[in-house]
Amino acid sequence: MNRPVRIETPSREGKAPPQVRAGGIDDSPFDVEKVRRDFPLLKSLMNGKPLVYLDSAASAQKPSCVLEALNVFYTGCYSNIHRGVYHLSAAATQAYEESRRKAARLIHARSEREIIFVRGATEAINLVAFSWGDRNVSEGDEILVSEMEHHSNIVPWQFLCERKGARLRVIPIDDRGELILEEYERLLGPKTKIVAVTHQSNSLGTVNPVSKIVDMAHRQGVPVLLDGAQAIPHHRLDVQQLDCDFYAFSAHKMYGPTGIGVLYGREKLLEEMPPWQGGGDMIRTVTFDKTTYAELPHKFEAGTPNIAGGVGFGTTIDYLVGLDLDKVAAYERELLRYALATLSEIPQIRFIGTARERCSVISFELEGVHPHDVGTILDGEGVAIRTGHHCTQPVMDHFGVPATARASLACYNTKEDINRLAGAIRKALEVFR
Ligand code: ALA
Repeated sequence: MNRPVRIETPSREGKAPPQVRAGGIDDSPFDVEKVRRDFPLLKSLMNGKPLVYLDSAASAQKPSCVLEALNVFYTGCYSNIHRGVYHLSAAATQAYEESRRKAARLIHARSEREIIFVRGATEAINLVAFSWGDRNVSEGDEILVSEMEHHSNIVPWQFLCERKGARLRVIPIDDRGELILEEYERLLGPKTKIVAVTHQSNSLGTVNPVSKIVDMAHRQGVPVLLDGAQAIPHHRLDVQQLDCDFYAFSAHKMYGPTGIGVLYGREKLLEEMPPWQGGGDMIRTVTFDKTTYAELPHKFEAGTPNIAGGVGFGTTIDYLVGLDLDKVAAYERELLRYALATLSEIPQIRFIGTARERCSVISFELEGVHPHDVGTILDGEGVAIRTGHHCTQPVMDHFGVPATARASLACYNTKEDINRLAGAIRKALEVFR
């Protein structure tokens, strides 16, 4: 086998090249029907009804090109990476590392040394809390999170506080589900060691003023970690412009495979941090007396990683970039506006979270119907939403509810999906009348 093994990114069926005018402006409209054709699962039935998938905040569906990339990799090029001198291993390594370069370009990192592949946003935050945290946090220090965090941006910091005798402080939210920035300013102080907040809330949809949050922390010399798990498929991101110190995200919420994600870290900080897991691939030399570690990013990537996931992630990034994130954002903004207007016509709905800056998520309660019953009746109508606390129990406590029903939007949803959602909600109200 002498030919180089190439992992091609299969092109989307019928995808026209982007229409870029002489002036460089692409003014072709966002074609949602064409996008939908890329996602095979959207053609399926659920309980005998055409599927309406409104749970992309939990995990997004996958386009054919990503599924094909996984198949091509496993059937044509699979082997372990960073280890073999043989041709297959070199090709697999090249494909995996190409994905890292794509991830760096996607978020405008300075180099791929700042891109650590992890299992997902949860592992990324744990990595920082253990590695950076153990080195930099001591007894009496404070860590600032917000009341709207996902449990994955609370619990790792609680572990750190327990290990170090530090204190977790919480930036409160108001009844719209917006951060109270005056409180944030008040809480930021000489004891604050790191600020860890979400870019976009998974249960409220609030988009936080992350630039301002970073500026305010940096004025006090405090680094900032942003949990970007929800934000990443909906916004164009530039970590250099944002100037955040860490940014965590998962591929599966951006139409990619599960079990792969990224910790972006400012290179200087990553250099100073000790490895957090030991094993193969993260070392330079090992003796029983002393072990030395590999360079970034491998220092943080012990063991055989999710190789196929990493390769599929590269294809995912190509796909997302090909859709044009600015067009996706504009399309989703209009869809959210339509959804809120349509659902507001149902008097028994109470929205949980009404932030002025929000994106893609609608959490609600239905008078007289438990959220889980709403979910079950919607399931019968072919409409998939999530119900529960969405791993944000402090948010539920704030609004005095045990759970909400949550519909979440992605680039493949349509106004017809929203009409089906509204119809199914009306049906739930009839059943419980
Ligand atoms: N964090 C995911 C959600 O919001 C699973 O549903």
